[in-house]
Amino acid sequence: MAWPTVGYLRRQTRSRYRYPVILVLFLLYVFFPIPWPSGHAPYEYSNHHLTFRGTPVIQHAFTTPSADTGRLKAVKAEFVHAYNAYRSRAWMHDEVKPLSGGTHTQYCGWAATLIDALDTLYIMGLEEEFEEAVAAVHRMKLWYAPSLACSINPFEMTIRHLGGLLSAYDISGQRDERLKRKAVGMGEMLLQAFGRNGIQCRAILWPRLWGWPCTPNSGVSFARMGSQLLEFVRLSMVSGKRKWSDRADFAAQELLRVQNKSRIPGLWPRNFDGTCDQGLCDLTDGPQFYTTASGADSSYEYFVKTHLLYGAVDDSYARMWAAALPQLKKHILFRPQAPNNADLLFPGEIMTFKDLPQSFSGKVEHLSCFLGGLFALSSRTVIDNTEDIEIAAKLTNGCVWAYESTASGIMPDTVVFEPCPPSNPKCTWNELSFAANTRKHGDATLPKGFIKVERPEYLLRPEAIESVFYMYRITGDEIWREKGWRMFTAIRDASRAKYGHASVANALVNATGQVEENQMDKMESFWLSETLKYFYLLFADPRLVSLDEWVFNTEGHPFRIDEEYRGQMYA
Ligand SMILES: *[C@@H]1O[C@H](CO)[C@@H](O)[C@H](O)[C@H]1NC(C)=O
Ligand SMILES: *[C@@H]1O[C@H](CO)[C@@H](O)[C@H](O)[C@H]1NC(C)=O
Repeated sequence: MAWPTVGYLRRQTRSRYRYPVILVLFLLYVFFPIPWPSGHAPYEYSNHHLTFRGTPVIQHAFTTPSADTGRLKAVKAEFVHAYNAYRSRAWMHDEVKPLSGGTHTQYCGWAATLIDALDTLYIMGLEEEFEEAVAAVHRMKLWYAPSLACSINPFEMTIRHLGGLLSAYDISGQRDERLKRKAVGMGEMLLQAFGRNGIQCRAILWPRLWGWPCTPNSGVSFARMGSQLLEFVRLSMVSGKRKWSDRADFAAQELLRVQNKSRIPGLWPRNFDGTCDQGLCDLTDGPQFYTTASGADSSYEYFVKTHLLYGAVDDSYARMWAAALPQLKKHILFRPQAPNNADLLFPGEIMTFKDLPQSFSGKVEHLSCFLGGLFALSSRTVIDNTEDIEIAAKLTNGCVWAYESTASGIMPDTVVFEPCPPSNPKCTWNELSFAANTRKHGDATLPKGFIKVERPEYLLRPEAIESVFYMYRITGDEIWREKGWRMFTAIRDASRAKYGHASVANALVNATGQVEENQMDKMESFWLSETLKYFYLLFADPRLVSLDEWVFNTEGHPFRIDEEYRGQMYA
């Protein structure tokens, strides 16, 4: 039986059969709830250990896997410092302010930092703190927003809150029903954030009338379309209810439908119009912007990762990535001019107009530093080839180089680099021409190779260390631990504050001696859920949260991969 669509129900409810139809559907639903495809639920795991014992397919086969204990301790000490500050100064609030010790409400006040930190607490072996935090999360009420009449951003709530709860449930051995119930409650709440056409709205007011659809707008980002895939699929697996994975599949089908209709077939423009009756509107003649950073990033990421989690059920995720990959390589990736002719890659941005040549920009956001890790993961899961792992290394090294070029040892939030011109295929570094170029753009004091710094701050973001972590786990090359350690010490020295860690105002300066003057009173929850977790896992025994057993959401929350799907190759 095909499940009746919303449109069918609406037509029926206008007719004289309205009540019988509703009654019959209701009874059908009560007696025959739509089951999860057999063989997938309920999920049961006998092995609750975090240490992987099987044969690695994704990770490197380490002969003597071992932790770097000294560095591991150093990372954990920073986590404990930040968590304790949150616990004592901002318990149950979204964030602690690291300089003043005050509180900050960013996501309606549902304890964003606490929920984001749950699985990291468990992974780092802070079990007492974990138990205390789970009990506190259990007492939270979702129907009531601590900051009343607030506006929920469903994208952020999905990756942070739903992702955090699911991950805490998975990582602690799926024993704690309180976490599962809270994840399901959060999932129910997030279902309220879809319009009648199945597209996610940008914001919903809370509290709201249950079942009253919101209205998607004309600027739906590509990232919004794809970034619930992994969480919703995992929630369906855990709960045994299809309503979430159906949403994810619908979004995936819509993205598949438009994938080859854009001006760069295979890639998605950053913005869609979500105001049409059935799903996404067709693309128009207007300008289209292509990027892998804000507004797009996690959708590319989720095709690969959802395939890993769910691939054997629906391969459209792998198909989308397989069609996007060659276009990313051809149009988006570029080699920057860098001193010593370093062979690096970055993802750039493209603006296209009807009937006009497209314009390319070497503008790189820290956000897009995740791409190296994604190429590495995809080379072991979706498309098996050696070229992609080399590209992954060059992309990751691009960000490592950007870190090591600044006086603070940290890459600023947004930097413009100079792509090597076709006239210089070997990309030979020319000091003089580069200096002339930099002067043209205004600032000769920038590190060599940087044309312009659009946003000099560092917001404690994880993407660069995330890729370093993937490179280490997948290649087994110890050099990545060295690179990661330099990142860690630079970030620690610039960000450590009285109540946690502060965002850095200007990553271009070395503020040793007056660190606080270069800090901002802001500590995002992803500092605990992602940045410090990836640092920790880089130095931990590589079998801890193995990539062969876990897939990380875009907020750094690991979900358990079922045996059945492990290492599926896309044929
Ligand atoms: C899009 O194009 C690629 C490359 O030509 C092809 O492999 C893929 O199947 C196409 N996707 C759809 C949905 O038509
Ligand atoms: C910043 O300056 C201090 C003192 O001169 C130095 O010890 C430190 O290594 C510098 N940091 C970086 C990242 O270069």
